[in-house]
Amino acid sequence: MNIFRFALVVGMALLAGNAGAANFAAGKSKAQVCIGCHGEDGNAAVPIFPKLAGQHVSYLVKQLQEFRSKQRLEQTMNAMAESLSDDDIKDIAEYFASFKLKHETVAPSPLGEKIYRTGNPQTRVPACIGCHGPNGSGNPLAVYPHLAGQYSAFIVKALNDYKSGERNNDKNRIMRDIAERLSEEEIAAVAEHISGLQ
Ligand code: HEC
Ligand code: HEC
Repeated sequence: MNIFRFALVVGMALLAGNAGAANFAAGKSKAQVCIGCHGEDGNAAVPIFPKLAGQHVSYLVKQLQEFRSKQRLEQTMNAMAESLSDDDIKDIAEYFASFKLKHETVAPSPLGEKIYRTGNPQTRVPACIGCHGPNGSGNPLAVYPHLAGQYSAFIVKALNDYKSGERNNDKNRIMRDIAERLSEEEIAAVAEHISGLQ
């Protein structure tokens, strides 16, 4: 590598590092209104508020844009997202995604594990593992959310909201078609299993 190219590479790395720090600071200051419910590091203290720590940036951006456009209806979050710009959304998403999610300890649920890994062929419920992955980490490119370690109370609410159609911003009805086929018992069990995944 010649000296000019070397200088260029080092210069670009420094610039990128500074930009990262600047975004983090911007994200942190913009996220101050969120932390009362979602926690300073995205690990909400109360189970009715979803954890945002370790979630994919792509997923956080999608949800915030859709709270803002009211494609995803939920009063609190519609109000919170209303005045956010695209840059705000990106900075805040990167801020919360950068933290480590705190794991939950739950009792093992054989039914939940079965649904997660194999679905329910009788009712044509597909295996969750197919999209959300063996350890519940989802897929940032496909915008499949990270689920592992999320509060089971929030997972139950999300699945019930898909089931009733109250939450309907899932492309091609992916999650509504699945949740419709889950019984109450299966929802509780699979939520418990997911919460315990690491
Ligand atoms: C007063 C409490 C409160 C505040 C403040 C708040 N949120 Fe929320 N947030 C919620 C609740 C409740 C939900 C769950 C909504 C639902 O049930 O669909 C939620 C959901 C979300 C979700 C979707 C998570 C998922 O996994 O589906 C994101 C992203 C989010 N909030 C980001 C933010 C951001 C960014 C801010 C600050 C600009 C913020 N929230 C401020 C209560 C709050
Ligand atoms: C074909 C792919 C696919 C399969 C199979 C699948 N999911 Fe999903 N899931 C998604 C997508 C995509 C989303 C995000 C939808 C959106 O953008 O709002 C999602 C969202 C969710 C959410 C909301 C998470 C949050 O933080 O907002 C939960 C909970 C969930 N899925 C649970 C499950 C469970 C339980 C199963 C198995 C019974 C399952 N999923 C099977 C694709 C899938």
